[in-house]
Amino acid sequence: MKTFTLPGTDITVPNVVLGLMRIQEKSDEEVRTLVRTARDAGISFVDHADVYGSDLHGCERRFAEALDLTPAEREATVIQTKCGIVREGPYFDFSYEHIIESVHGSLEALRTDYIDILLLHRPDALVEPEEVARAFDELAAAGKVRAFGVSNHTPRQIDLLRKHVQQPIVVNQLQLSVTHAPLVTQGVAANMQALDQSVVRDGGGLLDYCRLNDITVQAWSPFQAGFFDGVFLGSPRFPELNAVIDRLAAAYDVPAIAIATAWITRHPARMQVVLGTTSPERVAGAAQGSEILLTRAEWYELSRAAGYTVP
Ligand SMILES: NC(=O)c1ccc[n+]([C@@H]2O[C@H](COP(=O)([O-])OP(=O)(O)OC[C@H]3O[C@@H](n4cnc5c(N)ncnc54)[C@H](OP(=O)(O)O)[C@@H]3O)[C@@H](O)[C@H]2O)c1
Repeated sequence: MKTFTLPGTDITVPNVVLGLMRIQEKSDEEVRTLVRTARDAGISFVDHADVYGSDLHGCERRFAEALDLTPAEREATVIQTKCGIVREGPYFDFSYEHIIESVHGSLEALRTDYIDILLLHRPDALVEPEEVARAFDELAAAGKVRAFGVSNHTPRQIDLLRKHVQQPIVVNQLQLSVTHAPLVTQGVAANMQALDQSVVRDGGGLLDYCRLNDITVQAWSPFQAGFFDGVFLGSPRFPELNAVIDRLAAAYDVPAIAIATAWITRHPARMQVVLGTTSPERVAGAAQGSEILLTRAEWYELSRAAGYTVP
């Protein structure tokens, strides 16, 4: 498993991480097997959010109850969670009160004294960055949060936060898979009038902005075709892509999921892939993609087979 020091922190992280959005209905034994399989593959980083699960903090609580981490295990695990979405509505809330209340709820549900990385989940149109700064200062000073980041944010939204927030913004978690890749492929087809791919959907230069500012991109839904509409792996909707994935999987002697993972980890921006599967076998398979360095020809072939234009 490839690891690196997350820029802006002293936290060592793997380039494949375990998202726990889908564990609410899993038994203690299933959660334990999932997390321990991941850990044995080098995935010592879990991604949560206050809103994951049937109740508020539901998946965080399920994780903590099932694992009952010892102090040493807690220290060896990077725990990331998110706040800022209010499900009843829904709406977004980056107020001081909401951030503080959410973090206290997460600490209790996770049965821990500190969160390693806290992300603002989705941009709040009514954000008051001074309020965010006040909340972050208080959480950092109390040792309740070690590092801060965002999710689904544009460059200018991050700039606005950075004008007031003192701590570095170290992560931007964004939707990215080989079939949902405007973040990566827009720039390949910049300024092409007739191509939908050329349309800027990310505020403009988001990936380069993150690289320039030492903000690590985390790819969510790495195997979903689009927005929660099923996986592309093995799907008859993507015959050409799966043919290329299967050929490369055979060549590298890994499962197909490892090639889909490697398409993301190959990018020199040093992204992290946030897995959402609850299958230990799939987690172990994806982990095999961590260190595969696809050639440029292979990487572009996968992009073309997914439907992207290389003009
Ligand atoms: N920041 C954000 O806004 C945001 C949004 C969404 C998600 N996330 C994070 O990203 C993580 C991943 O998201 P995701 O769950 O949508 O991503 P994903 O890994 O692309 O999808 C996993 C889902 O696909 C299913 N699946 C079916 N066949 C599969 C196959 N062959 N390989 C892999 N999965 C297969 C899995 O079922 P099985 O469990 O049966 O394998 C699971 O339900 C979440 O856990 C969460 O931590 C963040």
